[in-house]
Amino acid sequence: MNEPMLVETAQALVGGGRGLLAMDESNGTCNKRFAAAGIPQTVEMRRAYRELIATTPFLGQCVSGAILYDETIRQRDSAGVLLLDRLVRAGIIPGIKVDRGAKPLALHAGETVTEGLDGLRERLEEYATMGARFAKWRGVISLGDDLPSRACIVANAQALARYAALCQEAGLVPIVEPEVLMTGGHGIERCLAATEAVLRALFEELEIQGIVLEAVILKPNMILPGLTCPNQRTVEDVAEETVQCLLRCVPAAVAGIAFLSGGQSGELASARLDAINLIARDGRGRTPWPLVFSFGRAIQQPALTIWHGEDAQIGAAQRALYHRADCNHAALRGDYTQAMETRPVLQRAS
Ligand code: G3H
Repeated sequence: MNEPMLVETAQALVGGGRGLLAMDESNGTCNKRFAAAGIPQTVEMRRAYRELIATTPFLGQCVSGAILYDETIRQRDSAGVLLLDRLVRAGIIPGIKVDRGAKPLALHAGETVTEGLDGLRERLEEYATMGARFAKWRGVISLGDDLPSRACIVANAQALARYAALCQEAGLVPIVEPEVLMTGGHGIERCLAATEAVLRALFEELEIQGIVLEAVILKPNMILPGLTCPNQRTVEDVAEETVQCLLRCVPAAVAGIAFLSGGQSGELASARLDAINLIARDGRGRTPWPLVFSFGRAIQQPALTIWHGEDAQIGAAQRALYHRADCNHAALRGDYTQAMETRPVLQRAS
């Protein structure tokens, strides 16, 4: 294992005051989002959309890394340049989602385990040759009356740890993403308890597999009430619970923490990220790791809606994408304000 190189990559991703853009939707997920926005679900439309993202002016000011999907890492822009090379030219490190999705967990109704370990060593080798420098694997944990089960927590933690070992062997920094879903009417305390159990199990398995934590990025959910919970909490409550949970469960050696957005609106995700970073700076909540973003929907959604599959809308969609990235970039410094939502974006970038 080339440990110095891995640590350097991890630091470049999370240590420089920028965050990550998740553009790694599988074809199925991308098609669902296209269908909801009235966009044809074709390979060419997916390619055009990813080109729109990868060529967004100034994106590299806010984004250190972009997570791609297998189809995207092989695609070229309309000038024939690989999208991966476009990102590198913009100062953005390319990464790749390598899991093969959450599948039903045997004997545990309503729960899943993420698959994709078979043949992963060979796939990682190919992605590394293509220029990917980090990878992502997502485990999914649902909350319900008797969920999550211990079986689900352990199965997903073990898969994440085996994936992380293969990544480090191949020279790719693993992003480990154990996502406790927002779906449901549960209160914030249920999310907190489940996330703590999940993180403790994950770091136990990472330890067993001998993972170098300095070359690991954790991609967790924020601690939130369920989407339909009547008791939605303030931005400050969410930030406080999230920071305290991470301080209790995440070893200080981990390179950094990059939150998923999980279906939060763009504005709420920025406001919560901002509050998290404000707490993480004060004496009481000071954290040993950078706390950044690795958002998908919370950065992309407005741009996708504006684009609508039309060439004439590309510029406006790119400005919307840049705007969300810029808001989240400001949130890393605790500088995001609601006023940013109404200021013109390209003036700030120039
Ligand atoms: O695995 C999930 C994505 O990388 C993050 O997407 O921010 O829309 O939850 P999200």
